[in-house]
Amino acid sequence: MRISIKDLHKMKKTGLKIPMLTAYDYTSAQILEKAQIPIILVGDSLGQVVLGYESTIPVTLNEMIYHAKSVVLATRKTHIVVDLPFLSYQTNNSDAMKNAGRVLKEAGAQSVKLEGGKEITSTISYLTNRGIPVMGHIGLTPQSVHQLGGYTIQGKTAKNAQKIIDDASYLEDSGVYGIVLEYIPSQIAKIITEKLSIPTIGIGSGRFCDGQVQVFHDFVGLFDDFKPKHAKRYLELSKLIQQSTEQYIKEVNEKEFPSDKESYFISEEELKQIKNL
Ligand code: KIV
Repeated sequence: MRISIKDLHKMKKTGLKIPMLTAYDYTSAQILEKAQIPIILVGDSLGQVVLGYESTIPVTLNEMIYHAKSVVLATRKTHIVVDLPFLSYQTNNSDAMKNAGRVLKEAGAQSVKLEGGKEITSTISYLTNRGIPVMGHIGLTPQSVHQLGGYTIQGKTAKNAQKIIDDASYLEDSGVYGIVLEYIPSQIAKIITEKLSIPTIGIGSGRFCDGQVQVFHDFVGLFDDFKPKHAKRYLELSKLIQQSTEQYIKEVNEKEFPSDKESYFISEEELKQIKNL
């Protein structure tokens, strides 16, 4: 049985932190589950770190489902939440329902995540009243990057911070089971976390959130285009892969690889029977 939204609520109640990571493929999801991560986000950040887009805006629902399917196949216990991409829920409630339904039906995910505050609460209620668990996402909402004017910290003025705090309450009232707080001051994340009875999951929002989320490629040091201040690299995988590739090129050029150890052989007896030898 997979971890449910009830289990996540219990974790908040009992003061257990909720570590979350993104994953976009079978192999990495399998590793994260072996390490007993309770929740994986198939984030639309895959647009940048897997597909090479400049932002998350071009990501399509089919791309999200394609990646989410393999994450679901790799896991048995982990809760899988999938981002609804830009334009798959902002148009109207029935589009949102159809598209969220596809994520649950075709990919087999347990819940979806939507970006936005008060303005999307009617959509969230529409989905949650029809059996779709929804995670909210406020603060820096990357699908609105052009309106926000860049990937900048949100809620630095009292007015903006108040709006984020109010949005968090609107989202809770509309039925979300948890909220990602992206890139907001630690003190504002603390106020929201103490105020809500549902879990907050922070990214670049300090230590007071109920959980934390990191992008897989930042976490293992696999993405070099930029390194956000809030991302902690637990590995330097891109350096290791580059060094290993240079070593591989050298060994192939110098005929050190493959050696007999990595080769297959036919018996001498069989070999002798080959006519054209
Ligand atoms: O797409 C994503 O990876 C996200 C996280 C940054 C929270 O939404």
